[in-house]
Amino acid sequence: MISIDKAEERLGKFRVVVGITGLWITVCLSSCGPASEAPRSNAPSVQADAPEIASNPVHIPAPKVIPVSKETHRVYQWYCAQCHGVKGHGDGINASHLVVPPRNHAKADYLETRSDQQLFDAIKLGGLAVGRAPCMPAWGHTLDDETIQSLVRYIRELCVCKAL
Ligand code: HEC
Repeated sequence: MISIDKAEERLGKFRVVVGITGLWITVCLSSCGPASEAPRSNAPSVQADAPEIASNPVHIPAPKVIPVSKETHRVYQWYCAQCHGVKGHGDGINASHLVVPPRNHAKADYLETRSDQQLFDAIKLGGLAVGRAPCMPAWGHTLDDETIQSLVRYIRELCVCKAL
């Protein structure tokens, strides 16, 4: 049997080891945080408090025409290009993993059969809301209406086509 003194001495050493380990874990965790957050700061500006999407979402009137800007290009490259491709040809890096191929935004055949409002709804509310595939995500929680409207204008530039 060990004496009480020895037992206390051991307990003391144990506490020191636990303390140091805890300190290291804290240091490691806190140093991982900012590093993993860093790439997010490059994200184009998005609306922090985008409005809730109504339960019957279709036919939300699109805001007035918003011209294409550098920010529109940035948003497209950041949020759309992985599926629709860097130039909108429907050949993004994720395209081959989707059951339904992403729309080719440079192809007029289909896009000139759609109104601007329909494109706006598809982007804001997602594919499912306009009778298309659900793998076209809804962006209404991420992008504000003006940004979405400028994306509609950008798609019209890519397809060099007019609305229905
Ligand atoms: C996860 C992949 C993915 C991402 C990211 C994505 N899309 Fe799509 N998108 C699709 C797919 C798949 C379709 C085709 C849906 C169909 O034909 O049923 C589509 C279709 C569309 C259409 C045509 C809708 C219609 O009437 O057929 C528009 C417009 C569109 N996307 C715009 C965008 C924009 C703008 C972004 C970026 C903000 C974006 N998409 C991001 C997958 C994606």
